[in-house]
Amino acid sequence: MSLKAIVTGGGSGIGLAAATLLAERGMKVACLDVNPPGEPFIGIKVDVTDDAQVRAAVAEAAERLGGIDVLVNNAGIGAQGTIEDNPDSEWQRVFDVNVFGMVRVARAALPYLRQSEHASIVNTCSIAATAGLPQRALYSATKGAVLSLTLAMAADHVREGIRVNCVNPGTADTPWVARLLDRADDPEGERAALNARQPMGRLVSAEEVAAAIAYLASPEAGATTGTALAVDGGMQGLRLRAPN
Ligand SMILES: NC(=O)c1ccc[n+]([C@@H]2O[C@H](COP(=O)([O-])OP(=O)(O)OC[C@H]3O[C@@H](n4cnc5c(N)ncnc54)[C@H](O)[C@@H]3O)[C@@H](O)[C@H]2O)c1
Repeated sequence: MSLKAIVTGGGSGIGLAAATLLAERGMKVACLDVNPPGEPFIGIKVDVTDDAQVRAAVAEAAERLGGIDVLVNNAGIGAQGTIEDNPDSEWQRVFDVNVFGMVRVARAALPYLRQSEHASIVNTCSIAATAGLPQRALYSATKGAVLSLTLAMAADHVREGIRVNCVNPGTADTPWVARLLDRADDPEGERAALNARQPMGRLVSAEEVAAAIAYLASPEAGATTGTALAVDGGMQGLRLRAPN
């Protein structure tokens, strides 16, 4: 019997790559996004900042899929600057998507996940949760919250048979990063700096993050809950000497 998955932010980048891989591995996949993709996915338009829309979208996904076994909580937006650079309204907007959005979708999905024999939630967190990156105060605070939320949810739901884990990507080559580079004064220089920040000397691909998501989402990872899997080119764990 094929598992049923919903992927938020499944219209682009890491979410689309994850949805594609889960479908290739035989899952039925619904993508919930403000800009949802079409076939072969069930695309459902939803803004994760609106609780009524989220509840309706998750119920529709469960109905059309025939249940929910896997939730990939991935929709997220970026923010730049130090704590002096963004007003309260921007802090509220980014937390609303990156943290409260995950809470809303998971809350709506839990009744369906409880019915599953292989229930699993994978949150897309970030290297920004575990390393201090310059000019990312707001974004990093949201991802720090996602990491703690992952651990707390894993504890709350382990006895219900629901696993909760997250992936921590380094800078990934997605449309998001392309937009960031487009806005930079020196896009080539900025790309070179992002590449150099990762010990492997290159950005992570969306497919590499998707592979980690697919592993954590699958019954193969049945003994794994409350973990963060880094997919960051070595950025969190390694301390290299400067090249000669
Ligand atoms: N790209 C990176 O370098 C990187 C690194 C670490 C973590 N991440 C995380 O990965 C996730 C996906 O990022 P990406 O790089 O694939 O970005 P992306 O911009 O390519 O895709 C994000 C998707 O989320 C959707 N989305 C945004 N706001 C939404 C909302 N309110 N409701 C519903 N859908 C919404 C967008 O429409 C888009 O399809 C995010 O959570 C991001 O924080 C990205």
